Amino acid sequence: MSLVTSLKMMEDADRGRYAIGAFNVENMEMVMAVVKAAEEMKAPVILQTTPSTVKYAGLDMYLANVRAAAQAASVPIAMHLDHGSSFGLAMQALRTGYTSIMIDGSKLSFEENIAVSKRVADACRPSLIPVEAELGKVGGKEDDLECNDPGYTDPDDAVKFVEATGITSLAVAIGTAHGFYKGEPKLDVDRLSEIRKVVSIPLVLHGASGVPDSAVQECISRGISKVNFATELRVAYSNGVKEYLGANPDAFDPKKYGAVGMEYVTRLVKEKIQVCQSQGKA
Ligand code: 13P
Repeated sequence: MSLVTSLKMMEDADRGRYAIGAFNVENMEMVMAVVKAAEEMKAPVILQTTPSTVKYAGLDMYLANVRAAAQAASVPIAMHLDHGSSFGLAMQALRTGYTSIMIDGSKLSFEENIAVSKRVADACRPSLIPVEAELGKVGGKEDDLECNDPGYTDPDDAVKFVEATGITSLAVAIGTAHGFYKGEPKLDVDRLSEIRKVVSIPLVLHGASGVPDSAVQECISRGISKVNFATELRVAYSNGVKEYLGANPDAFDPKKYGAVGMEYVTRLVKEKIQVCQSQGKA
């Protein structure tokens, strides 16, 4: 089927109290592996790329890969720009054909974050492309993007932010961080419930790698409808490749080790879809 936007799938998830898994992909193999998992689980999914991933191979290369995989699949698939770092990059993604855009102004002041998020939301609205923005700061490192000074989302600010920007989903900071955690992450789930009470658009959880499944599910039950997974997929793919090359040091056919990397990613994504409870929702 053709690519869809992330809007309806997230609104359905919000109403049904489950979440859409949003999976960061880095190469063709990861795209194929995620789509295979979605197909086997009959789950709608979002595939996404960060600015540094986009820098590696280009928006059109990733979009072409995802579009081809989606075309051959029977489940709804959206292509999302993750952590769009500027108005310019968001517009490039829109023009290229991404069907979902994030603008991340979380490192700016509240007013500057509103200004850039509103500008992107206004520009995407005529094409009916949904826009996610972030308020508060998710800690940790997401490839080129590093935050050592995380800040939680304030519910009152969230109301003002959503009204002032016209965005369609909001990424909240409640104690998750990009990358793995040193100890068990302490999530402020009461804050999440407070935000849910006053904000009606779908809410997004970043930094889910390393968060226990039960904690992700608690967040979903309290109002999260999109969960982002990146680091664990990178690790899974790399582990599959390393395992094959470890056992076959003379191998030189990328298809051989790529297949094992894909197998690892598909297995992981199926588990994450189950955590999100989006299986059978396609
Ligand atoms: P992780 O790398 O912690 O899974 O975070 C993913 C993410 O939030 C991408 O935006």
